[in-house]
Amino acid sequence: MARGCPADTDGWLQSSSAPRFRRMAAMSLAPPGTKSLSIGAVPVGLPFVQAALSGYSDWPMRVIARRLGAPYTLCEVMLDKFVVDVTRGSKARRYLKVTDEEHPVGGQLMGAEPERFGPAAKILVDAGFDVIDINFGCPVKKVLGRCRGGFHLSQPDVALEIVAAVRSAVPEPIPVTVKMRRGIDDSQESRAKFFQILDGAFERGVAAVTVHGRTVMQRYVGPSRWDFLREVKQHLGERTILGSGDLFSPQNCLDMLDETGVDGCTVARGAIGNPWIFSQCAALARGEPLPDPPSLFEQREVIHEHYALADETYGAKRCCPMMRKFGIKYSRLHPQAVEVRDAFVKVRQPGQWQEVLDRWYGEDLPGVHPPAEPEIAGTPGGVACESSNS
Ligand SMILES: Cc1cc2nc3c(=O)[nH]c(=O)nc-3n(C[C@H](O)[C@H](O)[C@H](O)COP(=O)(O)O)c2cc1C
Repeated sequence: MARGCPADTDGWLQSSSAPRFRRMAAMSLAPPGTKSLSIGAVPVGLPFVQAALSGYSDWPMRVIARRLGAPYTLCEVMLDKFVVDVTRGSKARRYLKVTDEEHPVGGQLMGAEPERFGPAAKILVDAGFDVIDINFGCPVKKVLGRCRGGFHLSQPDVALEIVAAVRSAVPEPIPVTVKMRRGIDDSQESRAKFFQILDGAFERGVAAVTVHGRTVMQRYVGPSRWDFLREVKQHLGERTILGSGDLFSPQNCLDMLDETGVDGCTVARGAIGNPWIFSQCAALARGEPLPDPPSLFEQREVIHEHYALADETYGAKRCCPMMRKFGIKYSRLHPQAVEVRDAFVKVRQPGQWQEVLDRWYGEDLPGVHPPAEPEIAGTPGGVACESSNS
């Protein structure tokens, strides 16, 4: 198993701490004018959901997103083999952790051979995931080299065998969904294969498909093509389509719904270190102005809570490196973003995390909205997706 793969990690505690800040469960009711999202028989509510993010959307991140208003979250992708090999008592079981407050939550699978998906999907259902999502999108070289993730967009027959295998393995009320990029590349052949898989997946009973408007070859360079999302939605009519790509602000999410007609938005990089984006989307959907960014005390409380959940999940030793990358993202909401980012980067011991909070979040100043742009250099996609999926 490669570096950073879920099976490589250690530390697992069962108990879960109580939420210390106000839950936003009521937010999940879609306001008038915004169509409520359902995935098959699973009601979601507000159409602004937390995307699958390898290396990020673990149990702590999902719980925080949920408490702050995400009506549905997706676990980071897991390899079919990894899921099947997890044994009772194994530390890797923390990746299958689902708690009551999370529902509905999706588990996502990736692999190469169709026959391996069914058993893994059943394990995810037994673990408590409400939706089983299949990854046909990961663009990482090593993943493609092993015929996983986005590679399946080049072989519709195998992709559809996987869909059929998962659909028949999973109990009927549990929705199966698919995550796809808009193709391997920009060729006509790739486009034809995309639609073959898309239509074939619905024929085989998937409840929804999430489309990321970039190609596999594009990875994270260049824009996500929302015009393609619109075309997909028009092609499918009433079928449920979620859109992905370039959702960095609440307004981006509203714009995607408006411009493409998709049924929901999966917020990815825009939600890392900014779980407030979900309640901000809800406010805009209600026709209200964009709420102020959270104050430094509000941020401190959430960052502290996130750290406590990670500590509970990974143990003190693993928690620091896990949380550093989140701290760097949270720092973008601080008026002195660069200094705070540098402070989080230097954290090596648990006590140092608290020192950063005391030093930089000790006064209740107004926060700032993070820049609504992707990070051009060193986009986390390559790094994190590679670490978990190989
Ligand atoms: C760090 C990182 C990890 C990701 N991991 C996954 C994953 O596990 N499963 C998945 O379907 N997509 C994954 N994606 C893709 C995102 O869900 C999303 O489709 C993509 O980032 C485009 O949205 P954005 O431009 O708004 O970030 C990942 C993206 C990033 C940046």
